[in-house]
Amino acid sequence: MPTIDRARRGTARPAPFAFGAILILAGVAQALDRTPVEQGRALAAQLCGHCHALHVTGSGMHPGAPSFRHLAARVELDGLHERLREGLIAGHRDMPQMKLTRDEARAIVAFIRSIQTP
Ligand code: HEC
Repeated sequence: MPTIDRARRGTARPAPFAFGAILILAGVAQALDRTPVEQGRALAAQLCGHCHALHVTGSGMHPGAPSFRHLAARVELDGLHERLREGLIAGHRDMPQMKLTRDEARAIVAFIRSIQTP
């Protein structure tokens, strides 16, 4: 009977979809597995990158915003995550208010540390 035939053919198809689902799950697992430095890089790109230079070369978009790779010369990185959570009230006039969790603030500082050059 043709109807059974069609049903059988239908069951043979899901394999490519299952394979796609596995790839997507692998991607999600990878995202959850990111190191603090990688999380910090993503957060900084989203929250700080339009004013500060984030990368090892190049300069930022905001005149006067210090390049992150030279931040250690200017601020104490040890306490920076606390100051970030407070919105960097001192010395950060143009920065918009942002609410960061402790983990987000630590991740951003971990990223900043990872790119320091003397
Ligand atoms: C709207 C632009 C803007 C954004 C967005 C911004 N900044 Fe800044 N930031 C500045 C400017 C301008 C300065 C320099 C302020 C000064 O010297 O008075 C600065 C200074 C700083 C300093 C040095 C403060 C000090 O005490 O000397 C740190 C640290 C810093 N920013 C971190 C960050 C981080 C981390 C983010 C993202 C979470 C961020 N900024 C987002 C504009 C910005």
